[in-house]
Amino acid sequence: MIVRSVILGVGAYLPANIVSNAELSKRVDTTDEWITERTGIKQRHVAAEGQFTSHLAIEAGRAAMEMAGIKSSELDLLIVATTTPDNTFPATAAKVQAVIGRPGIPAFDIQAVCSGFVYSLAVADNFIKTSQVKTALVIGAETLSRFLDWTDRSSCVLFGDGAGAVVLQAAEGQGTSADRGVLSTHLHSDGRYADILYADGGVSSTQTTGLLRMKGKEVFRHAVVNLADTAREAVEANGVTFADVDWLVPHQANSRILDSTAEKLGLSADKVIVTVDKHANTSAASIPLALHQGVTDGRIKRGQLLLMETMGGGFTWGSALVRF
Ligand code: UT7
Repeated sequence: MIVRSVILGVGAYLPANIVSNAELSKRVDTTDEWITERTGIKQRHVAAEGQFTSHLAIEAGRAAMEMAGIKSSELDLLIVATTTPDNTFPATAAKVQAVIGRPGIPAFDIQAVCSGFVYSLAVADNFIKTSQVKTALVIGAETLSRFLDWTDRSSCVLFGDGAGAVVLQAAEGQGTSADRGVLSTHLHSDGRYADILYADGGVSSTQTTGLLRMKGKEVFRHAVVNLADTAREAVEANGVTFADVDWLVPHQANSRILDSTAEKLGLSADKVIVTVDKHANTSAASIPLALHQGVTDGRIKRGQLLLMETMGGGFTWGSALVRF
């Protein structure tokens, strides 16, 4: 018998305000045609004034706890993956904890940009596997709209705000790929690429938060290679094949990246959960938002095998194989 981290509940929250490509084209020199053709994005949600990352995270966390049927008194660990925290400190997780968490449990943020959710899932899974905690709330939440250069059309059209969450709980498994729960996680980083996707500010360097900067073409080139590699290591580590994977639940950056990765892996497009058209790139929130979409529309069913993969600033990248 081994301990597995089973996803008991999934939650999501998207701000009410939706901004279409057509609306964006009034603000920057772009068109719906360009954005759709190059990225697949049609719209994005944008947080209201006074609505912070923690507010989005709280709503998504609550929804995940409700689906899981657990109360905050049962939580042992709270992690928020975010690059857009409410404050430099305390951690956004602490602010979430004050509203929906249990006082006294560890609560902290993980900063791995678009890979933040997979990083957080891995950390929570390891806490659970080593029996340090039984139940964890893992949230990916972002207000990227606050962090964009609205004069840079090559980046500002790509991102959106939102939050997604999962409740993980320890359960006994046999140690095979038939177990429910997180089967394995695989994390990578290569800081040599830090200047390809980054914020041009920070507490220590400029005493400002800076704005998102990206060399899109270079990120794209690395993304298609790294995503396919980490997806392969996840299936190989578990002795399964891509034919056994029911759903690819990828980070949502660009539909061309999704298509190209699926093709490389021999997965048909109808096995890929796509939300980039409606949410744009929500960084650490994008995988749990996609998971939530697939679960609530009935495509993702209990017992199915899910492959999550992601790539973001750092560069960071990684994957998780999960039996839902
Ligand atoms: O979450 C992980 C991080 N992000 C990613 O994974 C993103 C990866 N990269 C991408 O998705 C793509 O590289 C982009 C969508 C960012 C850009 O697509 P691209 O096909 O690589 O376009 P490009 O940067 O080569 O630009 C092509 C042209 C340029 O014009 P010229 O030089 O050919 O005249 C740009 O100035 O498109 C122009 N352009 C735009 N035109 C209209 C750039 N942005 C826009 C825009 N609207 N918003």
